[in-house]
Amino acid sequence: MARKTNQRRAPSKSWDAVAGWYLGWAGAEGSRHHRELAIPALMALLAPEKGERVLDIGCGAGALAPAVMAAGAHYTGIDKSPRLVAHGRKHHGGDARLLVGDATRLSALAALAPGGFDAATFLLSIQDIDPLDVTLRSAAWALRPGGRLVMLMTHPCFRIPRQSGWGWDDGRSLQYRRIDSYLTPLDVPMQEYGRKNGKEKPGVTRSYHRPLETYVAALAASGFVIDALQEIPAGNTGEEGRAQRRARREIPLFLGIGAWQS
Ligand SMILES: C[S@@+](CC[C@H](N)C(=O)[O-])C[C@H]1O[C@@H](n2cnc3c(N)ncnc32)[C@H](O)[C@@H]1O
Repeated sequence: MARKTNQRRAPSKSWDAVAGWYLGWAGAEGSRHHRELAIPALMALLAPEKGERVLDIGCGAGALAPAVMAAGAHYTGIDKSPRLVAHGRKHHGGDARLLVGDATRLSALAALAPGGFDAATFLLSIQDIDPLDVTLRSAAWALRPGGRLVMLMTHPCFRIPRQSGWGWDDGRSLQYRRIDSYLTPLDVPMQEYGRKNGKEKPGVTRSYHRPLETYVAALAASGFVIDALQEIPAGNTGEEGRAQRRARREIPLFLGIGAWQS
């Protein structure tokens, strides 16, 4: 039966549907936040050595590839979105290996072998991938014994989609962070893209909020030992007042976790 022209199409959950928007914001080298904060913080936790094999899970267009390759390590990225992967391949050239695949089923990828990597990373991707326990077991499959895992995410204690925000305390003249809900895991539909131009199938990606204890428990259950944790504040743009600068310095934007496989 022909689809009615005015029928509202169900938005896709795939990042493919929002690839145009994401690439417009972040490109294949990452957004300003990637380049100034997230990538340097992840690289400090990862500390890759020359010749090491790094698997970047949920790699998008491979924003991490230049930093890993500049350290002399080998970069492989996997992502579920064929459009982001195709863009990344074109941008980064043949030295970066980018594969289309599902983070929850890495063993289904013929191009990967068990224990084939020295390190695995999640650059701003772990909160977009579900379920967490299956994803971490899948990462563990790809790592050699003793292999390292680094995840860099928006801070799950302070940056909860739709459940946190800035507030202003008049009496104390300070900016505070308000948290409305934290311990309950959430599956949050993000802003919808692609509807306006009418050409692309509209896309709504999901973000999965989990409290910190869920990450620690899932890492431990997959055989990882946490050996580093870093909380990273947002940089200033220069336009903030004193109270905003203090709030941004004090309340972190990103959380980085380093672990190794026991
Ligand atoms: C916020 S983007 C981050 C991309 C990239 N790491 C970056 O920082 O530019 C989240 C990515 O997770 C990917 N993703 C979500 N679920 C996935 C899954 N099950 N397997 C592989 N990739 C997945 C999406 O396709 C998307 O590219």
